Amino acid sequence: MSSSVEPRVAVIVVAAGSGTRLGADLPKAFVEIAGTTVLGRAVHAVFGMAEPVQAVVVAPAELLSAAESITHGVAAEARDRVDVVAGGETRQASVAAGLAVIRPSVEVVLVHDAARALTPSALFDSVVSEVSRLGHGVIPGLPVSDTIKRMDAAGDIRETVDRSELTAVQTPQGFPRAHILAAYEAARKEFTDDAALVVDAGYHVSLVEGDPLAFKITTPADRLRAEDLCATGPVASRIGIGTDTHAFDDDTELWLAGLYWPGEAGLAGHSDGDAVAHAITDALLTATGLGDIGSVFGTSDPQFDGTHGEVFLRHTRGILEGAGFRIGNVSVQLIGNRPRFAARRAEAEALLGGILGAPVSVSATTTDGLGFTGRGEGVTAIATALCFSARDFPARGFRAGALPASERNGAPGARRLGE
Ligand code: CTP
Ligand code: MG
Repeated sequence: MSSSVEPRVAVIVVAAGSGTRLGADLPKAFVEIAGTTVLGRAVHAVFGMAEPVQAVVVAPAELLSAAESITHGVAAEARDRVDVVAGGETRQASVAAGLAVIRPSVEVVLVHDAARALTPSALFDSVVSEVSRLGHGVIPGLPVSDTIKRMDAAGDIRETVDRSELTAVQTPQGFPRAHILAAYEAARKEFTDDAALVVDAGYHVSLVEGDPLAFKITTPADRLRAEDLCATGPVASRIGIGTDTHAFDDDTELWLAGLYWPGEAGLAGHSDGDAVAHAITDALLTATGLGDIGSVFGTSDPQFDGTHGEVFLRHTRGILEGAGFRIGNVSVQLIGNRPRFAARRAEAEALLGGILGAPVSVSATTTDGLGFTGRGEGVTAIATALCFSARDFPARGFRAGALPASERNGAPGARRLGE
């Protein structure tokens, strides 16, 4: 990333606490989870966000250079967008230290606990997009599942609190720059989170759906849970392969990799002949042992005549997620003389990646004039897919993933706090 980038978003990662409850011999942010520090994991998530952001790491004064080397190690190419500053006595003082170095171009400020080390980048992205859309603060929260009782000083139960009114809040908490700066300016006491401070200053704050992976590593049991989540990954990975071949048919339009290609000869076959989409479908189904395109969709079922590849892919993603899988990534290669793919590669990758909710890379090659692809009779696509079973993401759940991205990221149903 070049130094000319002027980030619109800043993420303050507070990592200056001592971690008393964790009881390790190092401050919590410097404790390792499956070989990577808590701080390193948190910063990694920040640099996985969709847009380039300014990252402000707030670290204990005596560990500033350690924090710098961890941060630069994770985000070497983005050094010019990283600031590491010393924290204060309280979390609130640490956030204030971070706010002091927010760059002039920043319009949206997120505050995040480094201790929530496994928070997915997507949660940061959805907080940013909701702050931008609503124009006020947004915090992630999850329903409370335990029954909550109010006690008296003697330890006797007084009443059961209505759980439907409660939400367990997380970070990153996002705010328009002006709201959080004015609220910190006005704050005269300690608050337990940034939303409380901003609401106290008179601003609205809404709730978006949080993520179980955004839990805070507070106690040794939380550390074990985090270790377990990070360590189980490779055990339950599944890889699959799929290929598909279609002959050119001058009388049809070309649909390939989910895109329409005006002026190009189409592909013959069941549905729209989108060999790239069909190869990916088979790779996903074989990776997860859920069948193949023929057994799931029926190779001659008239309901799929002319159906676009996108429909197969969306449906396959739904089947996978319903069976407790997540797509890790997909790689697909198109073999053929035409269409000339390179110019639309990024477009295809963005479209397919959006449909599958996972990175998709597409390459294209020719066969030096050899074989049916070399003679220009048709195309072949070969895809591989990596999938994970629910065991890799036991805390995440698949409900959110099964929703269309528009519903997942949007805040229909967002509730306002502080009204
Ligand atoms: N934090 C901070 N500066 C402080 C206190 C806390 O930057 N003076 C940060 C922590 O590093 C952590 C986040 O705020 O990432 C949430 O705080 P918490 O989980 O309470 O962490 P600690 O204060 O380090 O832990 P403990 O309360 O057990 O000592
Ligand atoms: Mg603390």
